[in-house]
This record gives sequence, structure tokens and C-alpha cells, in this order.
Amino acid sequence: MNFNITDIPDQSGRIALVTGANNGIGFQTTLALSKYGFKVVMGCRNKEKAELAKSQIIKEFPKADLEIGILDLRNFDSVRTFADKFKKDYKKLDVLINNAGILVYSGKENEDGIELQFATNHLGHFLLTALLHEMIPNDHSSRIIALSSLAHKEAKIHFEDLKCEKAKSKDAAYGQSKLANLMFADELNRRLKKANKKFVALAVHPGGSDSGLFDEMPKMIYYIFKVLKPFIMNTPASAAKPSLFAALSTEVNGGEYFGPQGFNEFKGKVGIAKRSDYSKREDIAKRLWELSEELTGVPFLSTI
Ligand SMILES: NC(=O)c1ccc[n+]([C@@H]2O[C@H](COP(=O)([O-])OP(=O)(O)OC[C@H]3O[C@@H](n4cnc5c(N)ncnc54)[C@H](OP(=O)(O)O)[C@@H]3O)[C@@H](O)[C@H]2O)c1
Repeated sequence: MNFNITDIPDQSGRIALVTGANNGIGFQTTLALSKYGFKVVMGCRNKEKAELAKSQIIKEFPKADLEIGILDLRNFDSVRTFADKFKKDYKKLDVLINNAGILVYSGKENEDGIELQFATNHLGHFLLTALLHEMIPNDHSSRIIALSSLAHKEAKIHFEDLKCEKAKSKDAAYGQSKLANLMFADELNRRLKKANKKFVALAVHPGGSDSGLFDEMPKMIYYIFKVLKPFIMNTPASAAKPSLFAALSTEVNGGEYFGPQGFNEFKGKVGIAKRSDYSKREDIAKRLWELSEELTGVPFLSTI
């Protein structure tokens, strides 16, 4: 793959939406897209954090064209309000990066009683994509990108126990949500293809990166993690490269999954990422899609 992050043609006139743009990988993705010439809409839940991130980017790159949209993915009314405003404010959406995510260990739920990671990481993005996909220009350079994780590999979708209360691993619900991100991208790409769309859905994982994601990790594990960090972790800027590759490379095919190629896929050059056999199951992806339509209350490419 000949993709060079420093050799991107000017992207002026194009609009990207990055969710969770105020921190970590989303922040770095937003900064890079701004430098390439995109107008970037920062989909963030906290206005103050978003304003701070915006000012940091403008300090580093004064020409950055950034707008903030308030978006709380765990709350479906917030997603609908954000999407309505987006449709009024902009004529198109060239690149959608469904980046925001949480990792919690405490059995939290959203307002609708849905496990919080499934609601935020998957369902909020499913609904956002459903509400905005008609704004995407029918062109191969238009993209929808999901942020999955190495954590998808041990996971399955617990259809009968979405809160993962019966699961043995504490990470089951996070893994489930990241598996859902990957399988959503696959199923979306299949449905876009059947609808004769030229734009594609892709998934990426960033390897490992020390960001805000691990704030809720049990303290003991967190300290071990901090010690190992320099050996196994990407900087957030490197961790943003798979997202940037998926957004900008001309060499991608819909349904592909990218990530770092180094030891254990933690960091390194971007290439095709490994995935679990379970994640390839089209019957599960279809069932997840139908469940997502039901839980968000929105039909999405459902006649395809
Ligand atoms: N870091 C890693 O090693 C790693 C590994 C695999 C996958 N990932 C994935 O990469 C993505 C980015 O993670 P990160 O490492 O950059 O984490 P991060 O630094 O914690 O950033 C997460 C972003 O998501 C936002 N967010 C959380 N809940 C939200 C909600 N309800 N509505 C809107 N935005 C929300 C956060 O906003 P606030 O600042 O307001 O909380 C923040 O901007 C996630 O999807 C994560 O699962 C990360």
C-alpha cells in the first residue's frame, strides 16, 4: 500500500464529520483532516471540551475550518437533533468517521435502559449514519468509517443478554460494542452495494493508544498498563492513521478492515487487520442490523 500520510492532495470543499473529535484519536483525526483542507464538523457531547479542542487545533493550524455540533450518542433524541441541524446547515457529508467511544466496567445504562457501551459506541452511530447517509455524495471517495478494536476478537453479540450480565469477562460488553462496530460496517457496505451506491463503508482499529478511553480501568491494571505503554502503545496521532487511511486512500475496497501491522497489531504501518471468524458471519450481522433498527426506531436500507 503506497499511502503516504504527508502526501494527500488538497481536500478543500469537502466536509467531514468526526464524532468524539475533542479528545484522543478523534482529536488527531480532526487536526489532520483540517490540514488536508476539509471542513470538519466536530460531533461532541461537551461544548466546553469541544471549544477547547477547536482552539488547540486553530492554534496549531490557523486555517482550520471547524464547526462544533452538540451530539451525545448515548441519547437518541440528541442524535436526531444533531442530524436535523446538520441537514439544515450543510448540503453534503463526504466523510463520516464514527469515532467516539467509551470503555466502562460498571454496568451502566443509557436513558432507555440499554447497556451504555452498546448504546453509545454502536446504536448512536447506527442512528447517526441512518439519518445522514442520504447526504453522502455517490462517489468512491465518500466514506463511512467505523472504529472497531482488537477487543472484537474475543467478543460475540449477546442477543439474549445485551447487558452481558451472564458473561464471564468484564470486557464482554465493550468487546460486544466494538464487534458491533465492525459488523455494522460490513453489513452497511453490503447494503450500500446492493443499493448501487459507489461510496463505501470501512472499519479500522487503532491498535492501542493511551487516551481518555482507559480512565475507568481498574487502578491496578491501569498502573501495569502505564508501565508497558511505551512498548505497546501508539501515540494518538499514530493511532489516527488507520482512520485517515480509510478516509483518504484511493486503494480501499468497501468492507475492508484496517489497522496497524506491528507486533500483536498494537502499532505499526497500516494494512489489512486480522478479524475473528465470528465477525465474518453475515447471519449475525443481519440480525444485529434488525435489532439496531428496532432499538433506535429507524428503518435503514431495510428493503435491500
Ligand atoms: N485508545 C485505544 O487504545 C483504542 C483501542 C481500540 C479502539 N479504540 C476506539 O477508538 C475510538 C476513540 O477512542 P480514544 O482512544 O480516542 O478515546 P478517548 O480519548 O476517550 O476519546 C473518546 C471520545 O469519544 C467521546 N464520547 C464518549 N462518549 C460520547 C457520547 N455519548 N457522545 C459523543 N461523544 C462521546 C469523548 O467525549 P468526552 O471527552 O466528552 O468524554 C471523546 O471525545 C473509540 O471508539 C475507541 O473504542 C481505541
